[in-house]
Amino acid sequence: MKTTSSFVNMKKNNEKIAMLTAYDYPSARFAENAGVDMILVGDSVGMVVLGYDSTVLVTLDDMIHHGKAARRGAPNTFLVVDMPFGTYHGSLEQTLANAVKIMQQTNAQAVKVEGADEVLPVIQKLTSAGIPVVAHLGLLPQSAGVLGGYKVQGKTAEAAEKLITDAQKCEQAGACAVVLECIPHQLAESVSKELIVPTIGIGAGVKADGQVLVFHDMVKYGTHHIPKFVHEFANVGITIEEGITQYVQDVKNEIFPAEHHQFTMKEDQLQQLYG
Ligand code: KIV
Ligand code: NA
Repeated sequence: MKTTSSFVNMKKNNEKIAMLTAYDYPSARFAENAGVDMILVGDSVGMVVLGYDSTVLVTLDDMIHHGKAARRGAPNTFLVVDMPFGTYHGSLEQTLANAVKIMQQTNAQAVKVEGADEVLPVIQKLTSAGIPVVAHLGLLPQSAGVLGGYKVQGKTAEAAEKLITDAQKCEQAGACAVVLECIPHQLAESVSKELIVPTIGIGAGVKADGQVLVFHDMVKYGTHHIPKFVHEFANVGITIEEGITQYVQDVKNEIFPAEHHQFTMKEDQLQQLYG
């Protein structure tokens, strides 16, 4: 099992970190078998699995439910679980209790929180309690309502400067890695140079220390909107849809089940039964 220091060393050695989201047993198992370095049980589960139109509706229990399943699928991979909307903005005591619940029930290696500013004490509190924290800067999906939608962040010199400072503060507060979502590639490069801990980019260009993508986006599983920064590494959605269409036709036309799918009663037993 990799650790937070493995990731710092990977960065030092210029070895890129491949992170992927997973939300259940099969997706986590695929990720682990493919050699993913770090699995994120993202609150994106709300959108790509549960059909919500934002991550705001995802609860602590949702995250724990999916985190447990992902853990079972990937027992040997560093697992990060998102703290969902509203679970780390109350008192630090309540925040710690929520993070402890996630850690103990999912057996995760870290939690992730969005933002800097008022979230810095959260990073500090959890880290000092022994819980590794991944920070998340740039586009913050849990704040999309306040940001005015899902837009590229840090495009002006002023915003970029704030983001660089925020990243440094997250590191100082103890963050073990920083996710950078939807920011200009030049900014991601600067942030990555400033930090000792790795940056994990999504829509942040090739210079981040690692990359993360949403499972359902990169294999095109589902009918949700797929952002511009995603590459289609596979298209399982079309395969699934074609398979199901064929199944329906074959049931209607009595092509399925075929002879080799059915069970047969022996002749002597049939005699006894029907005489
Ligand atoms: O929930 C999620 O999938 C995430 C990634 C986009 C980083 O937070
Ligand atoms: Na998330």
